[in-house]
Amino acid sequence: MSASSSSLPRVVVLATGGTIAGSSGDPASSAQYQAATVPVSQLVQAVPALADVARVETEQVAQIDSKDMAFGLWQQLAGRVAYWSVQPDVAGIVITHGTDTLEETAMFLHLTQSCPVPVVITAAMRPATSLSADGPLNLLDAVRVAASPDARGKGVLVVLNQQIHAGRDVTKAHTSAVDAFVSPNTGPLGYVQDAYIRFTRMPARRDAEHLPVPSTWPVPSTWPLAEIVVSHAQPGRVAIDALVAAGVKGLVVAATGNGSIHETLAAALADAAGAGVAVVRSSRTGAGHVSIPAHPSPRAGLFVSAGDLNPYKARVLLLLALAADPSLGFDAVRLQSVFAAC
Ligand code: SIN
Repeated sequence: MSASSSSLPRVVVLATGGTIAGSSGDPASSAQYQAATVPVSQLVQAVPALADVARVETEQVAQIDSKDMAFGLWQQLAGRVAYWSVQPDVAGIVITHGTDTLEETAMFLHLTQSCPVPVVITAAMRPATSLSADGPLNLLDAVRVAASPDARGKGVLVVLNQQIHAGRDVTKAHTSAVDAFVSPNTGPLGYVQDAYIRFTRMPARRDAEHLPVPSTWPVPSTWPLAEIVVSHAQPGRVAIDALVAAGVKGLVVAATGNGSIHETLAAALADAAGAGVAVVRSSRTGAGHVSIPAHPSPRAGLFVSAGDLNPYKARVLLLLALAADPSLGFDAVRLQSVFAAC
């Protein structure tokens, strides 16, 4: 050890499961395995170098495959982040997570937490027992970033594959590669190379004083029904009509190209908007900004642009906004200002 352990920063690792905690009987296979089986204490023990970086404490918040992420766990996680972030001499928090819904949890925490210490989410594409597992280095790098004073004030961060991403911007863009995570519209915030951490740009800052919306959204105690629908060749309107009948409050459309929507779907969505359902246009392309028409048609004027948020991130913002203010469903102009500001 290069530093006496008491002089090292205190970092708390909150574990939720995922492939980083996955195990397989066949180390040569990175596809056949069980996610969320290895306890966080074992993940930390497997990386002795952590002891040179931080005094690491662990808490097993959950042990799930993140495809099964649910609002209850988001609430629990937000509570643990809020608790640990104000404990004496905690320098930072790391969250281990599955890769599949990491971008949604990152968006949720980005929008709901305003922490005095860095919150860094990490994950792995290969299970802990795999040949050339990526989890141990990702965990070490995440702790390095969480312990770094340079990471303070940069919001929720995501560290994988030696890159640092903004929680708002990052998305999973590959089924299996270790460089699966990208920030398509912005690029990463920086990188980690052993002990060297470099932020090459600042995250886009929200100017709290001039925002038309809260700079951090309350964590809902009850969540509105908000879903994602997809525009594609020959869509039907059955799903939208059924959702409206079920009381849906918000719909995000994974639209084609620059937010264009098939006429059949657009007619159903206009009916939904007319009935007070918030309709948000996002793009299924994976990158870019959905334009706001300078002279919207009466129908397009009912729909809100998600800007550069992908459908999954746009839904998280829509959920929080509608939970905080259900009247936004009836006010496309105000809802558009929410999306423009977040
Ligand atoms: C999960 O998301 O929990 C499983 C997949 C992964 O972590 O890569």
